[in-house]
Amino acid sequence: MSDLVEKIEKKEPVVFLSGKRIYMRPVELADAPVLQRYANDPDVRRMVSNQFPHSLISEEEWIKKISKDNTKEVILAIVLKEIDQVIGVMGLHAINWKDRTATTGALIGKEEWRGKGYGTEAKMLLLNHAFNELNLRKISSAALEFNGLSLGFNAKCGYKEEGRQKKHVFVSGGYSDLVLTAVFREDFLPLWQVYKRDHLS
Ligand SMILES: CC(C)(COP(=O)(O)OP(=O)(O)OC[C@H]1O[C@@H](n2cnc3c(N)ncnc32)[C@H](O)[C@@H]1OP(=O)(O)O)[C@@H](O)C(=O)NCCC(=O)NCCS
Repeated sequence: MSDLVEKIEKKEPVVFLSGKRIYMRPVELADAPVLQRYANDPDVRRMVSNQFPHSLISEEEWIKKISKDNTKEVILAIVLKEIDQVIGVMGLHAINWKDRTATTGALIGKEEWRGKGYGTEAKMLLLNHAFNELNLRKISSAALEFNGLSLGFNAKCGYKEEGRQKKHVFVSGGYSDLVLTAVFREDFLPLWQVYKRDHLS
Protein backbone atom coordinates (compact mmCIF):
# COMPACT_ATOMS: atom_id res chain seq x y z
CA MET A 1 0.00 0.00 0.00
CA SER A 2 1.35 3.41 -0.89
CA ASP A 3 2.14 5.86 1.86
CA LEU A 4 -0.58 8.21 0.57
CA VAL A 5 -3.32 5.55 0.47
CA GLU A 6 -2.33 4.38 3.95
CA LYS A 7 -2.63 7.93 5.30
CA ILE A 8 -6.10 8.32 3.77
CA GLU A 9 -7.28 4.91 5.05
CA LYS A 10 -6.00 5.64 8.55
CA LYS A 11 -7.65 9.08 8.35
CA GLU A 12 -4.34 10.73 9.19
CA PRO A 13 -4.60 14.52 9.31
CA VAL A 14 -3.74 16.66 6.30
CA VAL A 15 -0.63 18.62 7.28
CA PHE A 16 0.34 21.79 5.40
CA LEU A 17 3.02 23.08 7.80
CA SER A 18 4.54 20.70 10.28
CA GLY A 19 5.78 21.85 13.70
CA LYS A 20 6.73 20.10 16.92
CA ARG A 21 3.79 20.77 19.24
CA ILE A 22 1.40 22.07 16.59
CA TYR A 23 0.76 21.60 12.91
CA MET A 24 -1.12 23.79 10.46
CA ARG A 25 -3.65 22.64 7.91
CA PRO A 26 -6.29 24.14 5.60
CA VAL A 27 -9.44 25.38 7.32
CA GLU A 28 -12.42 23.14 6.52
CA LEU A 29 -16.18 23.69 6.80
CA ALA A 30 -16.25 21.25 9.74
CA ASP A 31 -14.11 23.78 11.68
CA ALA A 32 -16.84 26.45 11.47
CA PRO A 33 -18.54 25.76 14.86
CA VAL A 34 -15.29 25.91 16.84
CA LEU A 35 -13.96 28.96 14.96
CA GLN A 36 -17.31 30.71 15.44
CA ARG A 37 -16.98 30.17 19.19
CA TYR A 38 -13.44 31.62 19.21
CA ALA A 39 -14.43 34.63 17.11
CA ASN A 40 -17.31 35.51 19.45
CA ASP A 41 -15.22 35.24 22.64
CA PRO A 42 -15.21 38.64 24.43
CA ASP A 43 -11.41 38.64 25.02
CA VAL A 44 -10.70 37.81 21.39
CA ARG A 45 -13.19 40.44 20.19
CA ARG A 46 -11.45 43.07 22.30
CA MET A 47 -7.94 42.12 21.16
CA VAL A 48 -8.82 42.04 17.46
CA SER A 49 -11.28 44.95 17.80
CA ASN A 50 -14.08 43.19 16.01
CA GLN A 51 -17.34 43.81 17.79
CA PHE A 52 -19.74 42.38 15.22
CA PRO A 53 -21.34 38.98 15.87
CA HIS A 54 -20.15 35.93 13.96
CA SER A 55 -23.00 33.60 13.06
CA LEU A 56 -22.34 30.03 11.98
CA ILE A 57 -23.51 31.01 8.51
CA SER A 58 -21.04 33.91 8.30
CA GLU A 59 -18.23 31.63 9.50
CA GLU A 60 -19.11 29.00 6.88
CA GLU A 61 -19.32 31.63 4.13
CA TRP A 62 -15.88 32.98 5.16
CA ILE A 63 -14.40 29.45 4.99
CA LYS A 64 -15.96 28.90 1.54
CA LYS A 65 -14.59 32.24 0.33
CA ILE A 66 -11.01 31.63 1.50
CA SER A 67 -11.13 28.10 0.07
CA LYS A 68 -12.10 29.39 -3.39
CA ASP A 69 -9.56 32.27 -3.50
CA ASN A 70 -6.67 30.16 -2.27
CA THR A 71 -3.89 32.22 -3.88
CA LYS A 72 -5.02 35.53 -2.37
CA GLU A 73 -4.59 34.57 1.27
CA VAL A 74 -2.94 31.72 3.16
CA ILE A 75 -5.18 30.95 6.13
CA LEU A 76 -4.47 27.89 8.22
CA ALA A 77 -5.97 26.16 11.24
CA ILE A 78 -3.53 25.62 14.12
CA VAL A 79 -3.89 22.11 15.57
CA LEU A 80 -2.41 21.22 18.96
CA LYS A 81 -1.03 17.70 18.48
CA GLU A 82 -1.38 16.70 22.15
CA ILE A 83 -5.18 17.04 22.11
CA ASP A 84 -5.71 16.83 18.33
CA GLN A 85 -7.82 19.97 18.44
CA VAL A 86 -7.97 23.20 16.44
CA ILE A 87 -6.80 25.87 18.89
CA GLY A 88 -6.83 28.79 16.50
CA VAL A 89 -6.17 30.23 13.07
CA MET A 90 -3.38 32.23 11.52
CA GLY A 91 -3.08 33.81 8.11
CA LEU A 92 -1.17 35.78 5.53
CA HIS A 93 -3.45 38.45 4.13
CA ALA A 94 -3.30 41.24 1.54
CA ILE A 95 -0.55 39.46 -0.39
CA ASN A 96 0.97 41.91 -2.88
CA TRP A 97 2.97 40.02 -5.50
CA LYS A 98 4.51 43.22 -6.97
CA ASP A 99 5.87 44.63 -3.71
CA ARG A 100 6.24 41.12 -2.23
CA THR A 101 4.49 42.12 1.00
CA ALA A 102 1.67 40.72 3.12
CA THR A 103 0.12 41.15 6.55
CA THR A 104 -0.44 38.53 9.24
CA GLY A 105 -3.28 37.93 11.65
CA ALA A 106 -3.62 35.34 14.41
CA LEU A 107 -6.09 34.03 16.91
CA ILE A 108 -5.74 31.37 19.60
CA GLY A 109 -9.20 30.63 20.92
CA LYS A 110 -8.86 29.96 24.64
CA GLU A 111 -6.85 31.74 27.31
CA GLU A 112 -5.44 28.44 28.62
CA TRP A 113 -3.63 27.94 25.28
CA ARG A 114 -2.17 31.45 25.11
CA GLY A 115 1.30 32.42 26.36
CA LYS A 116 2.63 28.87 25.90
CA GLY A 117 4.60 29.44 22.72
CA TYR A 118 2.07 27.88 20.33
CA GLY A 119 1.51 31.21 18.57
CA THR A 120 5.26 31.71 18.12
CA GLU A 121 5.66 28.19 16.69
CA ALA A 122 2.81 28.76 14.23
CA LYS A 123 4.12 32.22 13.24
CA MET A 124 7.66 30.93 12.66
CA LEU A 125 6.28 28.16 10.38
CA LEU A 126 4.07 30.64 8.52
CA LEU A 127 6.88 33.19 8.07
CA ASN A 128 9.20 30.45 6.78
CA HIS A 129 6.50 29.61 4.24
CA ALA A 130 6.03 33.28 3.34
CA PHE A 131 9.73 34.05 2.89
CA ASN A 132 11.20 30.75 1.69
CA GLU A 133 8.33 29.32 -0.37
CA LEU A 134 6.20 32.27 -1.53
CA ASN A 135 9.21 34.56 -2.04
CA LEU A 136 7.70 37.42 -0.03
CA ARG A 137 10.12 39.93 1.46
CA LYS A 138 8.29 41.94 4.14
CA ILE A 139 5.41 40.96 6.41
CA SER A 140 3.50 43.49 8.51
CA SER A 141 1.20 43.23 11.48
CA ALA A 142 -0.77 45.69 13.58
CA ALA A 143 -1.73 45.27 17.24
CA LEU A 144 -3.46 47.37 19.88
CA GLU A 145 -0.96 48.94 22.28
CA PHE A 146 -2.20 46.90 25.27
CA ASN A 147 -1.98 43.55 23.46
CA GLY A 148 1.28 42.35 25.03
CA LEU A 149 0.93 38.76 23.83
CA SER A 150 0.54 39.84 20.23
CA LEU A 151 3.38 42.37 20.35
CA GLY A 152 5.49 39.86 22.31
CA PHE A 153 5.08 36.89 20.00
CA ASN A 154 5.63 38.97 16.90
CA ALA A 155 8.80 40.49 18.43
CA LYS A 156 10.12 36.95 19.00
CA CYS A 157 9.59 36.30 15.29
CA GLY A 158 11.56 39.41 14.31
CA TYR A 159 8.86 42.07 13.90
CA LYS A 160 9.97 45.60 14.79
CA GLU A 161 7.86 48.66 15.41
CA GLU A 162 7.61 50.98 12.38
CA GLY A 163 5.19 53.50 13.81
CA ARG A 164 1.95 54.07 15.63
CA GLN A 165 -1.44 55.30 14.63
CA LYS A 166 -2.27 57.43 17.65
CA LYS A 167 -5.60 56.85 19.43
CA HIS A 168 -6.74 55.02 16.31
CA VAL A 169 -9.06 52.29 17.56
CA PHE A 170 -12.06 52.65 19.85
CA VAL A 171 -12.06 49.80 22.35
CA SER A 172 -13.67 49.30 25.78
CA GLY A 173 -14.78 52.91 26.02
CA GLY A 174 -11.54 54.64 24.99
CA TYR A 175 -9.12 55.06 22.10
CA SER A 176 -6.02 52.89 21.77
CA ASP A 177 -2.87 53.36 19.68
CA LEU A 178 -2.43 50.86 16.87
CA VAL A 179 1.19 49.66 16.81
CA LEU A 180 2.45 48.95 13.28
CA THR A 181 5.21 46.33 13.10
CA ALA A 182 6.97 44.44 10.33
CA VAL A 183 9.64 41.82 9.71
CA PHE A 184 11.94 41.64 6.70
CA ARG A 185 13.13 38.35 5.19
CA GLU A 186 16.79 39.08 5.99
CA ASP A 187 15.98 39.65 9.67
CA PHE A 188 13.83 36.52 9.89
CA LEU A 189 16.26 34.02 8.32
CA PRO A 190 18.85 33.94 11.17
CA LEU A 191 16.01 33.72 13.75
CA TRP A 192 14.53 30.80 11.82
CA GLN A 193 17.82 28.88 11.89
CA VAL A 194 18.04 29.26 15.68
CA TYR A 195 14.33 28.49 16.22
CA LYS A 196 14.53 25.34 14.07
CA ARG A 197 17.60 24.12 15.96
CA ASP A 198 16.23 24.88 19.45
CA HIS A 199 12.51 24.15 19.08
CA LEU A 200 11.74 22.04 16.03
CA SER A 201 14.50 19.42 15.87
C1 LIG B 1 -1.64 36.92 19.97
C2 LIG B 1 -1.55 35.40 20.07
C3 LIG B 1 -1.83 34.76 18.71
C4 LIG B 1 -0.12 35.03 20.51
O1 LIG B 1 0.01 33.64 20.60
P1 LIG B 1 0.55 33.00 21.98
O2 LIG B 1 0.66 31.54 21.77
O3 LIG B 1 -0.33 33.46 23.09
O4 LIG B 1 1.98 33.70 22.10
P2 LIG B 1 3.35 33.02 22.60
O5 LIG B 1 3.10 32.30 23.87
O6 LIG B 1 3.93 32.23 21.47
O7 LIG B 1 4.29 34.29 22.79
C5 LIG B 1 3.91 35.37 23.59
C6 LIG B 1 5.16 36.09 24.03
O8 LIG B 1 4.80 37.43 24.39
C7 LIG B 1 5.40 37.73 25.62
N1 LIG B 1 4.59 38.76 26.31
C8 LIG B 1 3.52 38.58 27.07
N2 LIG B 1 3.07 39.76 27.52
C9 LIG B 1 3.90 40.71 27.02
C10 LIG B 1 3.98 42.11 27.13
N3 LIG B 1 3.10 42.80 27.83
N4 LIG B 1 4.95 42.75 26.44
C11 LIG B 1 5.84 42.07 25.71
N5 LIG B 1 5.84 40.72 25.59
C12 LIG B 1 4.87 40.06 26.24
C13 LIG B 1 5.40 36.43 26.36
O9 LIG B 1 6.29 36.48 27.44
C14 LIG B 1 5.78 35.47 25.27
O10 LIG B 1 7.18 35.42 25.10
P3 LIG B 1 8.06 34.26 25.87
O11 LIG B 1 7.62 32.95 25.28
O12 LIG B 1 9.47 34.62 25.53
O13 LIG B 1 7.73 34.35 27.31
C15 LIG B 1 -2.57 34.83 21.13
O14 LIG B 1 -2.22 35.28 22.42
C16 LIG B 1 -4.00 35.25 20.82
O15 LIG B 1 -4.63 34.64 19.97
N6 LIG B 1 -4.54 36.26 21.51
C17 LIG B 1 -5.93 36.69 21.31
C18 LIG B 1 -6.21 37.22 19.92
C19 LIG B 1 -5.20 38.26 19.50
O16 LIG B 1 -4.78 39.10 20.28
N7 LIG B 1 -4.80 38.20 18.21
C20 LIG B 1 -3.83 39.12 17.65
C21 LIG B 1 -4.48 40.39 17.26
S1 LIG B 1 -3.30 41.59 16.66
